[in-house]
Amino acid sequence: MWNTGNWVVTSAWPYVNGVPHLGTLVGSVLSADVFARYLRMRGHRVIFVSGSDEHGTVIEIEARKKGFEPKVFTDQAHNYILHIWRLWNISFDNYTRTESNIHKDFVRDFMLDIEKNGYVETREQFVAWCPRDRLYLADRFISGTCPYCGYEDARGDQCDKCGRILDPDFLVNPRCTFCDSRPIFVSRKHWFFRLDRLEGRIYEWLRNHGLLGENVKRYSISWIESGLEPRALTRDVAWGIPAPFKEAEDKTIYVWFDALLGYISATKELFLRTEKQSEWLELWSSPDTMTAYFIGKDNIPFHAIIFPALILASERNYKLPDIISATEYLLYEGEKFSKSRRVGVWADEAVEIFNEVDYWRFTLMRMRPEDRDTSFKWSEFIRVVNSELNDDIGNFIHRTLTLIWRYFNGEVPEASKIGDLDREVLEGAEESWSKYVQHMDRAEIRRATDVVIELARLGNQYITKKAPWFKIREDPEDVKTTLSLCFKLGLYLAVMLHPIMPASSTSLLDMMGVENSGKLVVKNSPSELIKDRHVIREPRVVFTKIPKDLAATLLDSEKREAFLGSVREKVNSQRPEALKF
Ligand code: MF3
Ligand code: ZN
Repeated sequence: MWNTGNWVVTSAWPYVNGVPHLGTLVGSVLSADVFARYLRMRGHRVIFVSGSDEHGTVIEIEARKKGFEPKVFTDQAHNYILHIWRLWNISFDNYTRTESNIHKDFVRDFMLDIEKNGYVETREQFVAWCPRDRLYLADRFISGTCPYCGYEDARGDQCDKCGRILDPDFLVNPRCTFCDSRPIFVSRKHWFFRLDRLEGRIYEWLRNHGLLGENVKRYSISWIESGLEPRALTRDVAWGIPAPFKEAEDKTIYVWFDALLGYISATKELFLRTEKQSEWLELWSSPDTMTAYFIGKDNIPFHAIIFPALILASERNYKLPDIISATEYLLYEGEKFSKSRRVGVWADEAVEIFNEVDYWRFTLMRMRPEDRDTSFKWSEFIRVVNSELNDDIGNFIHRTLTLIWRYFNGEVPEASKIGDLDREVLEGAEESWSKYVQHMDRAEIRRATDVVIELARLGNQYITKKAPWFKIREDPEDVKTTLSLCFKLGLYLAVMLHPIMPASSTSLLDMMGVENSGKLVVKNSPSELIKDRHVIREPRVVFTKIPKDLAATLLDSEKREAFLGSVREKVNSQRPEALKF
């Protein structure tokens, strides 16, 4: 029996000082969108929220470098990023920002609650001061050697190599990232979150959790086993949410503790605009609400330990995370994405290179790094579009619909004569659907796309073997059966693609005579969409290959660099000052 429920789906809040690149899309926003669309398609009520992560020194410095006050800078950048989400057809219910007043009030109240509950204490902390630049260095502006794994380029907040969360004064041989000089550590009073007091409860919660991905569990449990320490909640930073604690007037809340609470405040903000203002609270307090978080692996400790700890410490009974889907890294042709070295493709450039958002969405989900770091490769992009999308899926559906149009005037025939081969194919379709559902329910989107491709290949083998075009005269009953089954397979494919390629799937479903195809709801199986005497519309080609010239350019590294260079320049000139790079 299928139960529908309430979901909050979220993606990590991107820092507002950069244009999102393909890696940001795969790891957070696009994956979350696909999942949110999948749940809506299955009849759930979904609230999909995220926003711009805009506080902290990193952003303040970037703003000043460009000659802006931080708020002016983040206004510009936030608006442009909103425009990018529209281009990519991301179905946010609320994409807000940490500068929202509702958010800021929410964070301050929340912090006072955890203080009242005994989870905040003051301590003297060593803070890095760069004598040369004359400034307190935010954690990320200190680099040095990781005390755990020895990686030499670890940052003060986290080691990129082993993923551990660090404190800047743990680093061996710390350096200021601006001038390379050795910072002085001075003692300052700060407000700390007593993470240590929650160690046991988080540990139990993690161990008994049935839905968390392997990488999330493994990493978090090993962190707890090495012991949780209190963590500073406040910073000597100007650009942020003023700390609400007594005598902390000159400090702000550390950006991570600020941004994480955005998941809740963004839901609140959404409902405050409606008639049912208190519904956000019901939603977040109900044990039946399901919540899902889409993040890159470097965000695991914050979502699987710090966020749940904050919720527990608040004693507000908000729902703890159900699904945390953390991707490994997406690389670009084998290298790390790098803004300074221009390695990678950014979200606005992608649609300038090839203006078919659905194709980008599909190829990125095909490359979603679910088990290991995965490279975005142009050759793979072309292969997926030309061979999987066009040959495997597009051709099969087009052949099927054209034959139904031609032989039966567009009315889908009944299967009257089911033989062994037909039965196998029918079973194959049902099995694919159930595998697809199993994967999607766990947010294993790349694995779900494997199932889609397999089903399309099965359909192609079947129609080729049955060759209805040779039999229409001598054995019309067999042709009816074949095309009836092919139609079914095609419909399953279009439905399975719906969350990933919403526009293309809607065109396909329209053509297949599915009513209300833009608001597709499939509770049990796509078969429920087939009516008696089901009629299709005149078939058109929905997918096209990448134009030969473009494909040739993209496959030749020299030509490609020249082409991408010109695209980059053009796109960059259209970006607001805040985001040009
Ligand atoms: N801005 C962070 C990053 O890009 C993610 C913040 S996620 C949130 O790594 F939950 F804290 F919002
Ligand atoms: Zn390390």
